[in-house]
Amino acid sequence: MISEKRIILRNSGVINPQSIEEYIDAGGYKSLSSAFASTPEKVVEEVMASGLRGRGGAGFPTGIKKQAAADRDTGKISYVVCNADEGEPGTFKDRIIMETNPHLLIEGMIIAGYSISAKLGYIYIRGEYYDSVRRLQHAIHQAYARGYLGNDILGSGFSFDLEIKPGAGSYLCGEELTLLESLEGKRGYPRIKPPFPTEKGFWDKPTLVNNVETLANLPGIIGHGSSWFRSSGTEKTPGTKLFSVCGDVKKPGCYETDAGVILNDLINDLAGGTSNGKPWKAVLLGGAAGTFVPYSFSGLSLCYERLKEQGATLGSGAVIVIGNERKLIPLMQSILMFFRHESCGKCVPCRVGTTYIHERSLEIPAAGNEARISILEEIVNHARQMAKSSLCPLGQSPILPLGTLQIHFTEMIATE
Ligand SMILES: Cc1cc2nc3c(=O)[nH]c(=O)nc-3n(C[C@H](O)[C@H](O)[C@H](O)COP(=O)(O)O)c2cc1C
Ligand code: SF4
Repeated sequence: MISEKRIILRNSGVINPQSIEEYIDAGGYKSLSSAFASTPEKVVEEVMASGLRGRGGAGFPTGIKKQAAADRDTGKISYVVCNADEGEPGTFKDRIIMETNPHLLIEGMIIAGYSISAKLGYIYIRGEYYDSVRRLQHAIHQAYARGYLGNDILGSGFSFDLEIKPGAGSYLCGEELTLLESLEGKRGYPRIKPPFPTEKGFWDKPTLVNNVETLANLPGIIGHGSSWFRSSGTEKTPGTKLFSVCGDVKKPGCYETDAGVILNDLINDLAGGTSNGKPWKAVLLGGAAGTFVPYSFSGLSLCYERLKEQGATLGSGAVIVIGNERKLIPLMQSILMFFRHESCGKCVPCRVGTTYIHERSLEIPAAGNEARISILEEIVNHARQMAKSSLCPLGQSPILPLGTLQIHFTEMIATE
């Protein structure tokens, strides 16, 4: 029987998120002083040594990203942007951090700013997260009043300002380059990659874009050291991970435990097992842009390396459990409706393709068994072409859930 390992969430539900005093009493902002006692280069080295991988979906090594942003010197202007858009269906972990311990994110952002010598940071946040916005705004005011933000922070000579920018409800604006377009006040269309944000980001300056959970890990790494961080998780995915578990489980919720936790341990020990107590039919890992796995994957370790070997994804940590009585076709249709709705329309393969595959999926329930298999095959082939020809990762995503549905569940889709 496993239990939660609360490191990022250790003060969540314990301290008052609106009180900077309680955060400081719990050891908050000490890591910032440790960072100032060190050099920016050493902070980057420590993050590199920790092996922290981005928690926004792609799992890119955070230290390498920091190094890349710190190495650019275009007139000494650079930015830190926190990606708090949290638009992936089934993901609700960043909200928990921001609502229950906003100062942890703020401290992480100041450390990130110090490490790349940025003077300004933005939190680009999902517009509907009213409570997160309100609590962060209050926490930012408190941090300015106590000298943790603004000029010459704690007499270190380092100055850093922080602003919140709410988004307008586009899933695509969570993609880092589209996010930067939106942050600059433009329509949320993607930019061509490369250049990456660390080369040419916000107003074409080097920009470090990191997810909320990634940044919230920095105070722990700087305060306790990289070896301490590596004592949790696996060798290639060190640390703890926040999993948003939802769907047909008894106790849906956001659970923090070692990265690499076994899928069924997470579902049974932490989320209370399936709603009807029977083995689940499927799990959608990573949200709409994620992958379906069948029950034979119940012993899978949820770390980037093992999942990749198995053709699955971890994404942002969404674990959507589909009970044995639930049908897969309506779920597939709803995912395809989502992509159709969120396609920005800039390129033809995705604009036309997302509409076409969604409409074809609506024909499946009325079709016979054989016809269902051939419609699914056609949809998957279309999604594969879209993945090759679309301009940005959104159009490249439908193949992930569709391809894994076809691999593991064709039989069920034909007969359900
Ligand atoms: C369509 C799309 C939506 C995304 N939405 C989010 C999001 O809501 N939050 C997030 O942190 N990353 C999101 N990402 C990933 C970001 O592009 C980027 O990889 C991430 O912010 C980098 O931070 P990290 O290195 O800390 O993971 C999205 C990517 C795509 C393609
Ligand atoms: S792939 Fe889709 S979301 Fe991306 S640019 Fe093309 S139309 Fe827009």
